[in-house]
Amino acid sequence: MSEIYPVPPAFAARAHVDAAAYDRLYRQSVEDGEGFWRGQAAFLEWMRPFTRVSDTNFDPADLRIRWFADGTLNASVNCVDRHLPAKADKPAILWEGDTPGENRMVTWGELADKVNRLANVLKGLGVGKGDVVAVYLPVIPEVMVAMMACVRIGAVHTVVFSGFSSESLANRIEDSQAKVLITADEGHRGGRVVPLKRNADVAVAGQPSIRHVVVVRRSGAPVPVTPGRDLWYDEATVAADPWCEPVEVGAEDPLFILYTSGSTGKPKGLVHTTGGYLVHVGTSWRIIFDWHEGDLFWCTADVGWVTAHSYKIYGPLLNGATSVMFEGVPSWPDSSRWWSIIEKHGVNIFYTAPTALRSLMREGEGPVRKHDLSSLRVLGSVGEPINPEAWRWYHSVIGGGRCPIVDNYWQTETGAVLLVPIPGAIPNKPGMAAQPYFGIRPEVVDADGNTLEGAAEGNMCFRGSWPGQARTILHDHERFIRTYFAPYPGRFFTGDGVKRDADGYYRISGRVDDVINVSGHRLGTVELESAISSHPAVAEAAVVGYPHEVKGQGVFAYVTLKEEVPESEELRREIIEWVRARIGPIASPDIVQWAPALPKNRAGKILRRILTKVAANQFDNFGDTSTVADPAVVDDIVRRRQTHLAQEKA
Ligand code: PRX
Repeated sequence: MSEIYPVPPAFAARAHVDAAAYDRLYRQSVEDGEGFWRGQAAFLEWMRPFTRVSDTNFDPADLRIRWFADGTLNASVNCVDRHLPAKADKPAILWEGDTPGENRMVTWGELADKVNRLANVLKGLGVGKGDVVAVYLPVIPEVMVAMMACVRIGAVHTVVFSGFSSESLANRIEDSQAKVLITADEGHRGGRVVPLKRNADVAVAGQPSIRHVVVVRRSGAPVPVTPGRDLWYDEATVAADPWCEPVEVGAEDPLFILYTSGSTGKPKGLVHTTGGYLVHVGTSWRIIFDWHEGDLFWCTADVGWVTAHSYKIYGPLLNGATSVMFEGVPSWPDSSRWWSIIEKHGVNIFYTAPTALRSLMREGEGPVRKHDLSSLRVLGSVGEPINPEAWRWYHSVIGGGRCPIVDNYWQTETGAVLLVPIPGAIPNKPGMAAQPYFGIRPEVVDADGNTLEGAAEGNMCFRGSWPGQARTILHDHERFIRTYFAPYPGRFFTGDGVKRDADGYYRISGRVDDVINVSGHRLGTVELESAISSHPAVAEAAVVGYPHEVKGQGVFAYVTLKEEVPESEELRREIIEWVRARIGPIASPDIVQWAPALPKNRAGKILRRILTKVAANQFDNFGDTSTVADPAVVDDIVRRRQTHLAQEKA
């Protein structure tokens, strides 16, 4: 029998959606999707109301995804202006800096003022409707201001994770043709300084599309300034007009571009549009976290990921919710940092990722017990499958056994939630993202495209469309169709594997494509391989994921060196450093194993299946090895892995 945690009755009694409401609304949302989403769209303030809800076609020859297309609106009006004057003096953001004791409070009135001023600065720099602005900032209130300032003037933001290297930033600027970059002098993370302006200067040097760089003074450290190109955020915004007329945009005009790794070397710029995204994100955020007026929300995700776009920035802003924003890491200065912030502010809804929970769990209960976490009511988890052991720890040690866990499954591509145990409605089963959100039609599909019924295991697909869905990949609509809609016609294919139990609960088992999920961050193996192969000593590399206790998956790199280059510890470290510098620290290989040759078939294709097994310490049952061109290569790879394991043990 599987482990079930029923919805606490007191929780259900006050919830936006209880079990009966879920059944009724879910049925309505799939039987009459148009009617359901028309109702949900009333959540927004439209400038011109839409007349048609959706216009979609999944024929790969003519793929079309359009929601509320003839409606017009402005995102910043919905996220900020709407809460004024009622909330002018109430906090929008309670910010905690990396260093304990460093904090700020930003009211809704102040947020509006900052957004309007920066919007005017951007306008003055020649940014207009449809232009792209790149944002490379730490987790500070200005990141929210920057995103809102862009959308106020109809510009499109592309936020790049501040842990990415200059090269990753440059690639994203080049692909998006951003006109302006907003960055900071430095960022602070875990007591360390991140040289953002220095990275930005390197990135921008080869990118002629960037005309200006706006620099937020975060640390005050001296940084080089390029006259005529760079301007200080504080000086420019003080001088700017405090009112900026919001630009009316179409529901299908782009809101933002967000890059994510895929199964080729080139990150994909997913394009999200305005109306549908805001409807889906704003309404689902309130429901899945069961937020009520006055509740304090905290999402720990970095602003560079979709989790933060949808459910740290847009969701709370659209609902006028107060959020905690934290710049640092959970382990610094010690591993009670998060718990001390929850206690200090009385956080009610806490949303994080399994990888962080697993690393904190290792520290035991001591750091948690020092703090009063009784304010917590709802806990969220996202980004990767949460293993039942971490789930139980989260539930009992952090949530005191009383908080439902909202394990929500979705992707950069889907914009908003697809599967989730809505907390007042759906009993929890550890490790299961449970049931479909409203309007979402999951299908488990076998390799031949047959839809499986009942308890089943297969590929995770979704039928039909939902408003928050990405509309295309920037400059590559063909890749968008090929990746998501061509594999199983009529359905969106996620790239994930799934198991559905007899109760209709879904358990995501992880990626089935050449993407690995490291600490909840997607990395394309091909992207990693090209970074490693660009090292002058390397002839060839193959990267696979392997089970990692804390990160979920770790990066395992098999590296073939050029002839006559000797294997050495120093070179191993150098290759790891090389990848950090090219992609960013999150992409650091955990294990580099030298491979004088890689197992290939006769056509020269690397047999990843075998490499994945060896990386997971499975040394037999390689399946059909008759295709391996040179079986001795497999023996050598196995022997080297076993020797390494034996040395580790010793
Ligand atoms: O493999 C799934 C995993 O994260 C992937 C999406 O990554 P990204 O686009 O960066 O968005 C992450 C945050 C929404 C998915 O293909 N994933 C995400 N959430 C879950 C998950 N796997 C299991 N359970 C989840 N709750």
